[in-house]
Amino acid sequence: MGAGLGLLGWSVGCSAPVEPLNPVTPQGLAIANLFNLALALSALILALVVGLLLRTLWRDRERPGAPEPPQIHGNRTLEIVWTATPALLLTAMFFLMLQTMHAVDAAVPDALRIQVLGRQWWWEYRYPDLGVVTANELHVPVGHPLTLELTGDDVIHSYWVPRLTGKRDAIPGKWNTLQLAVQQPGVYDGACTEYCGLQHAWMRIRVFADPPDQFEAWVRQQQQPAAAPAAPPAVRGQQVFLQNTCVNCHAIAGTPAAARVGPDLTHFGSRTTLGAGVRANTPDNLRDWIRHAQDVKPGALMPSFDTLSAADLDALAAYLEGLK
Ligand code: CUA
Repeated sequence: MGAGLGLLGWSVGCSAPVEPLNPVTPQGLAIANLFNLALALSALILALVVGLLLRTLWRDRERPGAPEPPQIHGNRTLEIVWTATPALLLTAMFFLMLQTMHAVDAAVPDALRIQVLGRQWWWEYRYPDLGVVTANELHVPVGHPLTLELTGDDVIHSYWVPRLTGKRDAIPGKWNTLQLAVQQPGVYDGACTEYCGLQHAWMRIRVFADPPDQFEAWVRQQQQPAAAPAAPPAVRGQQVFLQNTCVNCHAIAGTPAAARVGPDLTHFGSRTTLGAGVRANTPDNLRDWIRHAQDVKPGALMPSFDTLSAADLDALAAYLEGLK
């Protein structure tokens, strides 16, 4: 499983490698160690069985005048050995698995709580103790214990960032948790791994593990309401936003827009991707997204705004990209 997944490229702009066997958390390491042990053991057994088979095939091949091959029927010792060995191995693996599950799920003290809501087809992140709400791109402090609390808002999704830890389902009406601490700064990509509808494949996750001071700066920035636009196109863009149906779905703190159907856009300009990873967050892609969201991500709740004038579209994109 692992090697194949390691080769999977999740190509969004500058995507990070997806390697479950190269984890950056103690929890991921526990899983990878168990996997490697099971793989090594399986390889050993395969080599032993194939080796014995080849040896027998060669030794007892058909030759003129060859004696009858030795028979093992009724060999009690052999039968006990080949029944007991797999049973003992499987029992040992079972207990190692229990130990790994315990290590992976153990509650971590003083963890930063982050709520993860799976929606069709994007992720909402809430930091209840920090007053931050964002979408699709998760920021966490390196080295700090984290508790992700996952739930689904519509159907069942599954949260998986291979280099962090195992998968966890996001189920409507239920809260699951994931405990982890990211030990290495970097960007880690993941995706929804439970089929959840048309755009399941475009429900990407990007985790930024920031050094503590950088994380604090990010939090301070995210806690601010959106800055009022200063330049003319962005000022016009804000009017376009507030006068269109954008406000029925999106929130921008510091403006009357407060809907929670789509992602919170208060700091949209600080995110690297849009549409849950479907495109890099550039003004060109944003204009495309607003005008033709249904072509970029068919079935998404975001309608296509193909009736906006070119000037209004430019202004709207300038406004949203300015929300850093
Ligand atoms: Cu959400 Cu698949």
